[in-house]
Amino acid sequence: MTDYPKRYTITAALPYANGPVHIGHLAGVYLPADIYVRYLRLQERDVKFVCGSDEHGVPITIRAKKEGITPQQAVDKYHELIKKSFEDFNISFDIYSRTSSETHRETASDFFKKLYEEGKFIEQTSQQYYDEGAQQFLADRYIVGTCPKCGNENAYGDQCESCGTSLNATDLINPKSTLSGLKPVLRETKHWYLPLNDYEAWLREWIVEGHKQDWKPNVYGQCKSWIDQGLQPRAVTRDLDWGVPVPVEGAEGKVLYVWFDAPIGYISATKDLTPDWETYWKDKDSKLVHFIGKDNIVFHCIIFPAMLKAHGDYVLPDNVPANEFLNLEGDKISTSRNWAVWLHEYMQDFPGKGDVLRYVLAANAPETKDNDFTWKDYQARNNNELLAILGNFINRAVVLTQKYYEGEIPARGELTDYDKDVLGVLEGMPMVVASYLERYRFRDALGELMNLARLGNKYLADTEPWKLIKTDAERVQTIMNIALQISGSLNILMEPFLPESAAKLRSMLNMNQGKWAQAGSAELLPAGHIIGKPELLFEKVEDTAVDAQVQKLLDTKKENEMANAEAEPAKENITFDDFSKMDIRIGTILEAEKVAKTKKLLKLKIDTGIDQRTVVSGIAEFFDPEKIIGQQVSILVNLAPREIRGITSQGMILMAENADGSLAFVQPSKELKNGSGVR
Ligand code: MF3
Ligand code: ZN
Repeated sequence: MTDYPKRYTITAALPYANGPVHIGHLAGVYLPADIYVRYLRLQERDVKFVCGSDEHGVPITIRAKKEGITPQQAVDKYHELIKKSFEDFNISFDIYSRTSSETHRETASDFFKKLYEEGKFIEQTSQQYYDEGAQQFLADRYIVGTCPKCGNENAYGDQCESCGTSLNATDLINPKSTLSGLKPVLRETKHWYLPLNDYEAWLREWIVEGHKQDWKPNVYGQCKSWIDQGLQPRAVTRDLDWGVPVPVEGAEGKVLYVWFDAPIGYISATKDLTPDWETYWKDKDSKLVHFIGKDNIVFHCIIFPAMLKAHGDYVLPDNVPANEFLNLEGDKISTSRNWAVWLHEYMQDFPGKGDVLRYVLAANAPETKDNDFTWKDYQARNNNELLAILGNFINRAVVLTQKYYEGEIPARGELTDYDKDVLGVLEGMPMVVASYLERYRFRDALGELMNLARLGNKYLADTEPWKLIKTDAERVQTIMNIALQISGSLNILMEPFLPESAAKLRSMLNMNQGKWAQAGSAELLPAGHIIGKPELLFEKVEDTAVDAQVQKLLDTKKENEMANAEAEPAKENITFDDFSKMDIRIGTILEAEKVAKTKKLLKLKIDTGIDQRTVVSGIAEFFDPEKIIGQQVSILVNLAPREIRGITSQGMILMAENADGSLAFVQPSKELKNGSGVR
């Protein structure tokens, strides 16, 4: 047997309190962390699971400005929203703290002070952009300009989102402050830098020599490439008025860089949790694991470890099982484009179905590559896996036990080879699942768990107790006993993934929360034990439910297209004479009907003031014929007649086309006499 660490300190990335959390956050970070921690607890290991809101940094100030509130109000609002979402999905943090807390300010401040006093920083003065209107230095995200690489005019001071190049603010052509719109000027400012270059050799040894085998290839690869490129001193302070003040003289108006203070938040959260916090952070037998998304790798594998090393008192992460990204219906999840499934909205639309989303996200977790979430897959996994495999097996076992034995578990008689095989697989299963979980392979662990439920189903289907009960009632006792042992073990093994359903199943089986070590046992539920009443663990997800979600996304897509649509450039100039050749009149629609066997065409009868005439118009997708009768429209009356589907169309109705492709009439702003000219 492997030796297990004395205790575990498990962290999940502190989410920015600048918006709600979505399925990408859950799939990439919080769900795998929670599965791991729940598993460790079932193994009776000593574990602390800490998280909290990341409440500093420029993203917060930008969000506050957008909403017209103070940064404090913004973080108060989103902290509560995020915290609630985590509770709804049963993410079982031992503490969910926040970096605007007093404990954190002090902890981060002391951390900086210690490094400062020990001369671990370098002080450097440099030229940085300053906004003379807003009278403040500009964070990179507050500066836009033209990207020197691709010419995108809206590149940020740290990155061009068009071509992906990472930039320095001074690289931008025609820089502009987003605060005042003014051209920023360069001013001298002093900052403190952590000389990462001094830690390069140590980092190389620690990661490249030490963790090549046990870190995920994507994590190891990113780290190695950073180190190979050579590390530079990194500023750990900023000119900003929101954050932890830099605790040294001559640093007025400066705060700690958010990526310096945030990871220290893991330590302050532990402090808020337990007086014994130091053991979890300083004792070398504590195993520290950071659950994060791939955009956080450099901070957790290079910068924070260098900070911890510089400080000297703390343990280093044993592993950083970062995930790739989850896409949504084929597109990158994006907060600014509202392309996401927000956890609080999911809960409103699917109350009581937190476990279903946990299941789908764990089964499809982006562990080794980016993955795609689709509502079709959500429905299929619920209906064909949770319901048809796991739910169905449990239901059969419980219902038949009630029916045949009034809920009292029968004793096993003599075992067939098949029985022995099944019990053998059952016995080995906890080890198999555990070995995946210990290696952060949550999808595989879940897959094995489902295989056990599949095996249960197959066992019942093969042995057919519902038929045998008439001919060999004794044999049925053995079968049902075995089915219930499988159910009991499933209950324990599924708890990390599906905590709510496991709780339901516990009450159905009338059993306590078992420990991992008990799973797999053929004696888990002894003969004579009385189980409870059957309840449905899962329900079918209907087409209407997922169709509504898909529609919601299509609406979002439309809104985005509308918001981003740019007007077409003007056509070439024409003369006034060209224009006055067109005879446009106001007319009234007298009759309207669909042209048979077409999707788009309406046949209209129009009173033009000059005459009553027929016009065929391609507007049927947007107008109900009955509802447009009596409306006034603009009609080009001297367009040469055309034959359309055997109908002579005399003239053309003027239509305006919206950015989303929908059509509207061009109508007078008050009722006019038919035949009035438009010029
Ligand atoms: N707020 C960061 C993000 O959402 C993560 C911070 S993790 C911490 O990307 F380590 F800094 F806390
Ligand atoms: Zn660019």
